[in-house]
Amino acid sequence: MLGQLSIRKRIMVILAAVYVVSLTVAISAGWYILRQDTIRESLEKTDIFAAAMSASQEYLAAEIRPRVLARLPNSYFPEATVGILMLAETAKKVQNKHPEYIFRIASPNPLNQDNLTDAFEEAIVDAFDNGEFETWQGFAERGGKRYYAIASPISAGENCIWCHDTPERAHPDMVARYGTQAGYGYELGQVVGARFVYVPTAVAEMQALKKLAWFAGGFSLFFLLALVAVDRIIVYSVVRPIEQIVEVATEISRGRMDRDFDVKSNDEIKALADAFKRMKYSLAKAMDILRV
Ligand code: HEC
Repeated sequence: MLGQLSIRKRIMVILAAVYVVSLTVAISAGWYILRQDTIRESLEKTDIFAAAMSASQEYLAAEIRPRVLARLPNSYFPEATVGILMLAETAKKVQNKHPEYIFRIASPNPLNQDNLTDAFEEAIVDAFDNGEFETWQGFAERGGKRYYAIASPISAGENCIWCHDTPERAHPDMVARYGTQAGYGYELGQVVGARFVYVPTAVAEMQALKKLAWFAGGFSLFFLLALVAVDRIIVYSVVRPIEQIVEVATEISRGRMDRDFDVKSNDEIKALADAFKRMKYSLAKAMDILRV
């Protein structure tokens, strides 16, 4: 099919095909690299967020809880003794300033129904409980928005059971606050929930798309300029000289022996013109001989 086209069109078609293929490859590679960037950036944010949360929980467990329990052994003071409650409250304060960031301690069997797992979280908690993975990270959707999320399991230890065993064993104030329906029946070592940190990817993804759009624009402009340059080169150094040779050859064939091939370049076209010139002289000589 290409053989039917003029040289100029053929080269343009080939260059256009090269453009389409190279743009597709470059954009796919760019998208992959930028996506890795988005993941890395999101992961850094989720890590910092999770680390800050864990640090405050550790502080409560190591510094606050033992002193509170020593001074008020029989009282129910969850704000100072339940790390998860403190985390939930701290997360709410973070969220007031950064509503897009979400920190959740979710359980399929929660005391506080706000902490109930959704379908995605429940699948992750189940996978943790089955030992499928130790931590999880990846893209997740929540309320129609895309997030990068990390999750780590929460297992029940000795010191958890007295609150999460049965309503009879738990502190009556806690039962009065949370009821008796859910949040109990923990078994030692069981994965009872997971910590989730969600960081929105929309901003990073928009930036990645913008970068790609700029790249595609620049690449196309560059290619367009290259296309125009190549076109001009073909026209000036191939198409026009050949047209001239054709015109002169046609006139000579009609008997106008005064016309001459005149090529200024020093390339294949010149070699062609020189060959025609020699042919013209041979023709002139042959005609002279015939005339005699
Ligand atoms: C002093 C009682 C107490 C102890 C001890 C305790 N918890 Fe809780 N736990 C609570 C309360 C109260 C909540 C509800 C917090 C809220 O309202 O968000 C809670 C919430 C949770 C949740 C979130 C889901 C839910 O039930 O709302 C998980 C998971 C959890 N606890 C696991 C643990 C683990 C694991 C331990 C041991 C390391 C532990 N808890 C120790 C009282 C306790």
